Amino acid sequence: MWADLKSHFEATKSRRFETLVDGERAADFSTLAGDVRFDYAKTNIDTTARDLLIKLLDDTGVAQKRDAMFSGAPINEMEGRAVLHTALRNLDGDPVVVDDKDVMPGVRNTLKSMESFADEVRSGAFKGQGGQIIDVINIGIGGSDLGPAMAVKALAPYHDGPRCHFVSNVDPADIAQTLRACDPATTLVIVASKTFTTIETMTNARTAMAWMGESVRKPGAQFAALSTAEDKTADFGIAPDLVFGFEDWVGGRYSMWGPIGLSLMIAVGPDAFRAFLQGGQAMDRHFCAAEWHENMPALLALVGIWHNQICGHATRAVLPYDNNLSRLPAYLQQLEMESNGKGVSMDGADLDLPSGPVVWGEPGTNGQHAFYQLIHQGTRVIPCEFLIAARGHEDDLHHQHQLLVANCLAQSEALMKGRDLDEARGKVADKFEGAELERQARHRVFPGNRPSVTIAYPQLTPFVFGQLIALYEHRVFVEGAVLGINSYDQWGVELGKELATALQPIVEGADASGKDGSTASLVGFLRDNGL
Ligand code: F6P
Repeated sequence: MWADLKSHFEATKSRRFETLVDGERAADFSTLAGDVRFDYAKTNIDTTARDLLIKLLDDTGVAQKRDAMFSGAPINEMEGRAVLHTALRNLDGDPVVVDDKDVMPGVRNTLKSMESFADEVRSGAFKGQGGQIIDVINIGIGGSDLGPAMAVKALAPYHDGPRCHFVSNVDPADIAQTLRACDPATTLVIVASKTFTTIETMTNARTAMAWMGESVRKPGAQFAALSTAEDKTADFGIAPDLVFGFEDWVGGRYSMWGPIGLSLMIAVGPDAFRAFLQGGQAMDRHFCAAEWHENMPALLALVGIWHNQICGHATRAVLPYDNNLSRLPAYLQQLEMESNGKGVSMDGADLDLPSGPVVWGEPGTNGQHAFYQLIHQGTRVIPCEFLIAARGHEDDLHHQHQLLVANCLAQSEALMKGRDLDEARGKVADKFEGAELERQARHRVFPGNRPSVTIAYPQLTPFVFGQLIALYEHRVFVEGAVLGINSYDQWGVELGKELATALQPIVEGADASGKDGSTASLVGFLRDNGL
């Protein structure tokens, strides 16, 4: 199948896909999930390629793997765990059984306690020493930060609770600047860590506890914890009623649907949070029910596989024309690259295909004035993924939103059509002539034939936001399932952690001579300069 796809790519790669694009193709090469539309007409995928790609899903058993995931089977084989973030949004669905036990009553109970706590914080019933909570600081990193931080920004129009801050980096600048902006007497600190051992988070949490302890009599009473390790949260001094636990079948980067989403819930309120969960659940239902040729997560994944594993484009730009999604690319970097950046397949054999792509991006229109030069005229093809809402939340500025939409659509059109030499000559013919005209014109040529997809939606409501995030999660699942890798472990982050622990005594003054020459010499330079 891979060979068939590669030979089809070779046979069609020099064609201008623009010649394929008409109204019929726009309908055929797009799909709807609820109100969200995914358009992949502006790619070189034709019906033959799509059929071959869909066959890949069948050949690699994606439907069976999907059903195994939803049913609670331990598909994270390397850690012997189920992968059940979908249970966190299975609000009115069937029981989900793990180790002979339905996990749904526990999920619903935790959600209820989160809701009561969020209501108390928002209403002022839960107080700090100085009265109503004005600032919430979420201390976490990776999945315990990127999801809620991205989501609070995404749902800014619905934010009517206390201010939310996110501290992740062990760089003291991060926590110091945040604490400076808050009054400890009216601050709630949420320590978000699945394991409650992550060095950055625990270091920042201790710094925050010390800061709070300087002026608040019972600092622990203004701390909540979100974790699977409830014994460790108690050792840290957080009262059990302020601990919101979850199970190891929720992966860190998939965790904002449960307790890790507490800061989001406090910001936007339990109703909006539920709407977010419902949006996720709607996408789950679509993913489980829709035929492959209409199945949005499957198609999004297949387009990604076509561009990365077949065409060889190593990166993917995510370009939300939605400023509230400005942290989406960073969130997706963890979701996609930590999940599918693997070099061996599930059975431990070397992967004979490239692993998942490098994911990067910035919101439009900002990116247009920064890196789009390379996307349009650089020598590498970068498949682009645009996101655009029909309307924003600023009704009185809708004309400005229309300008945003025009820019988004213009970019995918420009990438597809490009500008040939003749047209480029026409642009400068009144200013130059002869060899200089040729030279000037060549700089104004756009190769075009560059693929992009567009995800369009009516408005970034909590429900739509939930749909989008679940869409991306399932895309990662499908890509991983087709490649035959384990998308749910992350051994690749371990070596650096181990070496950092070993290096700590050296940066604190111990002998560096056992280290390699480069590292020892860098330590020497930093010591000479104040380390
Ligand atoms: O180091 C990677 C990682 O384990 C991520 O997978 C995770 O999201 C992050 O660290 C934070 O982990 P924790 O929530 O356990 O602090």
